[in-house]
Amino acid sequence: MIIDLLYLVAAVCFILALKGLSSPESASSGNFIGIAGMIFACLAAYLSTDLSNVVLTLLAVCIGGSIGVCIARSLSMTALPQMVAGFHSLVGLAAVLVAFSAYYAPEVFKIVGEFGRIYKSSLIEMGLGVAIGAITFSGSLIAFAKLHEIYKGTNVPKELNAFLGSSILCLLIYFVLTDSQCAFWLLTFLSFVLGATLIAPIGGADMPVVVSMLNSYSGWAASGIGFTLHNDLLIITGALVGSSGAILSYIMCKGMNRSLFNVIFPSGQDDFSAEKGAATVRPYQKGSAEDAAFILKNAKSVIVVPGYGMATSQAQHALKEMGDLLKRNGTIVRYAIHPVAGRMPGHMNVLLAEANVPYEDVFELDEINRDFATCDVAYVIGANDVTNPAAKNDPSSSIYGMPIFEVDKAKTVLFLKRSMGTGYAGVDNELFYAQNTMMLLGDAKKTTEAIVKAL
Ligand code: TAP
Repeated sequence: MIIDLLYLVAAVCFILALKGLSSPESASSGNFIGIAGMIFACLAAYLSTDLSNVVLTLLAVCIGGSIGVCIARSLSMTALPQMVAGFHSLVGLAAVLVAFSAYYAPEVFKIVGEFGRIYKSSLIEMGLGVAIGAITFSGSLIAFAKLHEIYKGTNVPKELNAFLGSSILCLLIYFVLTDSQCAFWLLTFLSFVLGATLIAPIGGADMPVVVSMLNSYSGWAASGIGFTLHNDLLIITGALVGSSGAILSYIMCKGMNRSLFNVIFPSGQDDFSAEKGAATVRPYQKGSAEDAAFILKNAKSVIVVPGYGMATSQAQHALKEMGDLLKRNGTIVRYAIHPVAGRMPGHMNVLLAEANVPYEDVFELDEINRDFATCDVAYVIGANDVTNPAAKNDPSSSIYGMPIFEVDKAKTVLFLKRSMGTGYAGVDNELFYAQNTMMLLGDAKKTTEAIVKAL
């Protein structure tokens, strides 16, 4: 009774946590509700099991908890996507291990029927759990390596993935029908391979969607474990993670104007061996902090477009100070956030909230894009791909189709970055060389601080 109640409270906490995390204002309390839910869940799981392994259980909690704390403390915020990918891989691996435990010790899981045979429904759960878990595990590891830039990617023929996918489906059916040990092992092996071959050819600019998709897979894998362990909370939580990850993938695909199918099965062949970074050198206008301060002082309306560079340089506080100074001068200052700016969903919102930028000054792509045509200055701070007109004009570009901020329509564009190099997608940006663009080369925080001083 107590255990059921604890599980119920934990499930409600998780739902409320998701609700809280949907807005920057309530995200912090959502996070704490989620932590409380996890404590209730662990307590219930602990009370519902055989208490003979107290020392081992506590030891596992201490070791796991310490590793988690160390990773979280040592990680920079810009490396969060790879951390998320790394953690997803563990959920996938857990699903595989639980499925194997259940297969080799079915009596412990109470899934044996007449003549010592495992129930058909349990075989389905195990087969699905092992397949989704193994795909999540190897896929997440590849995503981690790509996001951490230790592996670039490889083109994989679509036919190979189609062959692996259909083989897995056939093996799954065969396994459920025959309970064959050989099919179970082969199913696991092919799923590990498919996870890697699915993610390896996906282009850099699509990695955010991949991470969120793997998040969804890991949720379904956890749900699968829940069925095997007869744990309702795990089923509910897995389904919450699975569906929220799927919705987030959809939202991001919409933000990049791509279909999920097109992201998972890229149509073109990418040149993974190409080095990105140095763009072609052409004449451009270079400005100083004093030039920028002069332009900003005379502007009636300024739209700030933050990107990944603002995060790496931690320029949000200097930016807020600059915004306040301009506002005091009578200038309208707004912040425009692209759905895939930075390196994770909501990256820019979190940083601006941390610097106490008022929520009412922050706008999404659709809300503000047409206002660039009437604004005096677009202040592009560490953003690049999300402003790149190649997404609109160049069908051969890897970012073609992604909606962008039309910053070129502003009277003046101030571009803050360290070099003329490309952004995440490795695509040169025509805007750097436009008549109305002034490049402010240097670290975004230092440049903004210099502008504040000059103002
Ligand atoms: P990017 O296109 O990656 O551009 C960031 C720019 O910041 C770079 O061109 C870099 O130029 C500059 N920069 C880096 N450090 C800097 C510093 N200390 N000071 C000043 N500038 C600095 O970023 P974006 O416009 O935000 O676009 C995001 C990209 O990341 C998209 O392609 C998106 O698909 C991808 N992505 C997004 C996510 C999510 S979910 N948001 C996750 C993974 C990938 P310099 O090197 O010349 O300074």
